[in-house]
Amino acid sequence: MSERSELQGKHIVLGLTGGIACYKSAEFVRLLTKAGATVQVVMTEAAEAFITPVTMQALSGRPVVTSQWDAREPNNMAHINLSREADAIVLAPASADFIARLVQGRADELLSLMCLARPRETCPLLVAPAMNREMWSHPATQRNVAQLAQDGALILGPGCGDQACGEVGDGRMLEPEELLADLIAFFQPKVLRGHRLLITAGPTFEPIDPVRGITNHSSGKMGFALARAAREAGADVTLVAGPVHLPTPRGVQRRNVTTAQQMYDTVLPLAAEHDVFIATAAVADWRPATSAEHKIKKEGKKTVPSFELTENPDILAAVAALPAPPYCVGFAAESEHLLEHARAKLARKKIPLIVGNLGPATFGRDDNALLLVDASDHQALPPDGSRADKLTLARSLMQELAQRLQAVKTA
Ligand code: C5P
Repeated sequence: MSERSELQGKHIVLGLTGGIACYKSAEFVRLLTKAGATVQVVMTEAAEAFITPVTMQALSGRPVVTSQWDAREPNNMAHINLSREADAIVLAPASADFIARLVQGRADELLSLMCLARPRETCPLLVAPAMNREMWSHPATQRNVAQLAQDGALILGPGCGDQACGEVGDGRMLEPEELLADLIAFFQPKVLRGHRLLITAGPTFEPIDPVRGITNHSSGKMGFALARAAREAGADVTLVAGPVHLPTPRGVQRRNVTTAQQMYDTVLPLAAEHDVFIATAAVADWRPATSAEHKIKKEGKKTVPSFELTENPDILAAVAALPAPPYCVGFAAESEHLLEHARAKLARKKIPLIVGNLGPATFGRDDNALLLVDASDHQALPPDGSRADKLTLARSLMQELAQRLQAVKTA
């Protein structure tokens, strides 16, 4: 699934309140519409001091609503009509004052009136605070935010960093890309809530000397998609990544490593804290027995250098052999006979599930086709044997995993 269609069919009411972060809301509207959502912007009077309704109308393609006395509504009930059509209300930016008003259940202008009048079962409220760090850390704001969350709102952020006032700290509104990722995640079913997933991803790099090494074509995309999908499904996720230049999915704890040994040393102590381990990484099977301290020089040498290789530890097998192992999922990247190789790997590593894929057809690509193999059965993902993008596959795999975890629990 491309980002273009992630919010297809969703209608979002975007509420702007007074704050300099309103400039980011213009970009946020563009991202929402690019992702397929329709957007209705509602602005408070204070928001209009920071950005004009003209800008927001042009970007959303709909007239902005600013007043509960807007006579364009046939029944003159904008606050009811707007929230009945919405799949979610997102307040970005939400000022300290506006959050306080929500907590009090105030209803003397359109946006707060609409939030109060929304059908809470069908129209969730997502709130992205934006304010100076002192305002954010003030006990009054912290009390209000906690109360708002208790009343059922989802608080997005805030971020930390430079503030428009020149100070540095917590209270910045999240960036538009972060808001979009959080909103997309919000709509995913929370099938892994309460679970803790440890995921390895990417290649490893085994140094020969300070400038050369042994590695492979793994891009890390599948493992990163799994980490994102697991987080979207409500799990706590730790991602141990080999050397790749991919952004960390929102809300995922990332640990960077280079070599297989480092990956092993990082994963093993973490395994006990997680109830699922997914080994997506294409770990180098061998490494040079010794790594030269300085670059091996060509000049003046008559013979080509030769290296002795030594075996790397098998991370997945080691985790599976722990006294109380997490539920282990392995990956098999093969070039032929996928099912046979996957079955053999399942037995060799003593794990309940292997996900097979064809190496040349997955490395570096955005799409893939998977074969789920357990002791008794196998099934293709997508089920019709076609290909799908890695995030879609990762989400399907999380649904599948949730069912298998449930089956293990009730067995
Ligand atoms: O052993 P083989 O490479 O055939 O198996 C692949 C699976 O084992 C993958 O899940 C991979 O992440 C994992 N693996 C590992 N440590 C190794 C080699 C592979 O965790 N040293």
